[in-house]
Order: sequence, then structure tokens, then C-alpha cells
Amino acid sequence: MKHLLTLAACAAALSACSPGKPAGTAISSSAKFNSELPMSEFMGHFVDPAAFMYWKASGTEITEAGERDLSPTTDEGWDVPVTGATMLMEAGNAMQLPGRVRAPEADWIKYSQLLTERASIARAAAEKRDKKAVFDEGGKVYEVCVACHAQFVIEPEVKANGAAKADPLPAMPGAK
Ligand code: HEC
Repeated sequence: MKHLLTLAACAAALSACSPGKPAGTAISSSAKFNSELPMSEFMGHFVDPAAFMYWKASGTEITEAGERDLSPTTDEGWDVPVTGATMLMEAGNAMQLPGRVRAPEADWIKYSQLLTERASIARAAAEKRDKKAVFDEGGKVYEVCVACHAQFVIEPEVKANGAAKADPLPAMPGAK
């Protein structure tokens, strides 16, 4: 419905606007970014908590008492994965800021954009409260984390030390 209204408004104004896209995509000449936080801080205190807000809202937990569905049951509960996915969408943007991009740049940019893209789909699943989709899309977000870490964390470590510690990322919770 929103899209129809936007289209109607565009047609009426005979202006070239694309629905869903902000007006300006070029970086303002007065923009100034503070990207002084090291990548490890940005990951550990922004990306990781955001991802866990999302992942913890799906799957099942198996205890002695039996199997428990981890999906939210309240409005506030469902807000958590929506918030987590929102933060991940923006994390993909923030990872492309000057000072954050690592070489080979094309790959870094590709993973960052893929994070935003998949987080956007994941966000929509949480908004719809579609339990299966939240689980599946959470898995697809996880794949992006793993892929980027393989190339930008583990591979350099192997090159430098001949061995890697491990993926810095723990297993996705709720996954069997
Ligand atoms: C575009 C590449 C990229 C993507 C995508 C990415 N990471 Fe990272 N991540 C890194 C790099 C590089 C480091 C190592 C930072 C360093 O120590 O310099 C890192 C480190 C981490 C760490 C360790 C932080 C610490 O305390 O040292 C965690 C946790 C982490 N990432 C979580 C995630 C999660 C969760 C996702 C997916 C939602 C993700 N990352 C996606 C590049 C990425």
C-alpha cells in the first residue's frame, strides 16, 4: 500500500523517484565519519550483540524438561529480533565507511552489502513473526559472518602463523 502511494506521488509530480530509496546516495561533502573504534570492538560490541538478539529469538532448546521453542511470545519479545536485524542492516553500512574497509576491497564490500541485504530479509521475517523464516534467514545471516571471517580473519592468521585459532564466532544458538 505504501508503495502504491509512493508510485502515485511520483507519477503526479512527474519526478524521477525510486520508492524505498533515499533521495541522495552520494556522500555529502560535509559528512565526517568517526571510525576510530577498532574492528574487534565494532564486532564485539555492535555486530555480535545485534546478531544474537536475532538468533536467540528462534530455534529450540533441548533440556531435561524437553524441547522448548525459543521464539518470542509477546510484542516486546518480537521487537528484539527486529531490533537486532535493524542493527545488522546498519552494520553492513558502517563496515563500508572510510577507515573500515580492508583489502581486497571488492570482497569486503561484497560481504558488507550481503550482510545488509540478508539482514533486511531477516528483519521482514521477524516483523511477520514467521518463526520458520526467522530461523532460516538467521542461518543465512550467519553464513555471511562465517564467509567474511574465513577470508579476513582466518586466512590472514594462517598466512601469518601457519595456523588459525578458530572462527571468532560461536555456533549459532538454537541450531541443531
Ligand atoms: C565484512 C567482513 C565481516 C563480516 C560480514 C563479519 N565480520 Fe566479524 N570480524 C571481521 C573481522 C575482520 C574481524 C577481526 C577483527 C580484528 O581483530 O581485527 C571480526 C571479528 C569478529 C568477532 C571477534 C571480536 C573480538 O572481540 O575480537 C566477532 C565476535 C565477530 N566478528 C562477529 C561477527 C558476526 C556475528 C557477524 C555476522 C552477523 C560478523 N562478525 C560479520 C569481519 C567481518
